[in-house]
Amino acid sequence: MELQFSRHRKLRSSANMRALVRENHLRAEDFIYPLFIYEGENVRNEVSSMPGVFQVSLDHLQAEMEDIVAHGIKSVLLFGIPKTKDACGEQAYHDHGIVQEATRFIKEKFPEIIIVADTCLCEYTDHGHCGVVKGEQILNDQSLELLVKTAVAQAKAGADIIAPSNMMDGFVAAIRAGLDEAGFTEIPIMSYAVKYASAFYGPFREAAEGAPQFGDRKTYQMDPANRMEAFREAESDVAEGADFLIIKPGMPYLDIVRDVKNNFNLPVVVYNVSGEYSMVKAAALNGWIDEKKTVLEMLIGMKRAGADLIITYAAKDAIRWLKEDE
Ligand code: PBG
Repeated sequence: MELQFSRHRKLRSSANMRALVRENHLRAEDFIYPLFIYEGENVRNEVSSMPGVFQVSLDHLQAEMEDIVAHGIKSVLLFGIPKTKDACGEQAYHDHGIVQEATRFIKEKFPEIIIVADTCLCEYTDHGHCGVVKGEQILNDQSLELLVKTAVAQAKAGADIIAPSNMMDGFVAAIRAGLDEAGFTEIPIMSYAVKYASAFYGPFREAAEGAPQFGDRKTYQMDPANRMEAFREAESDVAEGADFLIIKPGMPYLDIVRDVKNNFNLPVVVYNVSGEYSMVKAAALNGWIDEKKTVLEMLIGMKRAGADLIITYAAKDAIRWLKEDE
């Protein structure tokens, strides 16, 4: 009997042959590196659930930025840990709020670095929710006003991109209008368009000290069971003027990444979140998996799924490992 089959292995015969037919690649420019800026002095705390990730105060930012630049990272995403929190998250939109201070510092010393400002209230409110709270409710429209003030304060300080992550309805429309009115028509919005209520944010809440003090985020973040809802969220953000669409988390939601890539014509950003980072770290520290191979496989999987950009705590490691392999 004559067998009929295809010889796929022809294109896998050597390292150079595999390189020749490789469909996706990781580059330093693909990565956005998150930074946790701590209001205070002489702070460089390693986050216990995220080995290799540090909260840094402004006096340590010069050294941190030099390291970032040396790695070839071009964009950073700023989160703030303020000294004081209150019901309305005033430090999020205060002109001297910690993210605004860090933005001015980076812009002055490293003007070519793209600063993405995470626009949310949960790190700044005493209740830890991403909006204004009344009783047990998170109020939508009242929250928008504070988010607009935050975005405008961030743009004034010099942020290059505004990244609202709070998941209130209408946040892109409100922030776009607010930025335009304040004269920031050229500042793009990188919207956390599709953000699930995820257990994978656990370690981040330690890093950013922004865990909700009551209840959970399920009335504003999405149900992990849903796909159609992701289309609705992305559609409205595009209509409201988003310039980038973030899908978050990454690994368990790569089907959604592909859906968004196929159906919308904006750069797609995947957030490889804290829990994804910590799982790999923990397993690697136990000697259970090969960290380098696992991380690079996760990241290329995100590109293959449709990511144009990846927000990841592993950016420094990934770039170093990619250079090793060159
Ligand atoms: C703020 C925000 C969160 C993350 C990014 N921005 C936490 C949350 O929504 O609970 C999570 C990022 C990560 O886990 O790495 N709203």
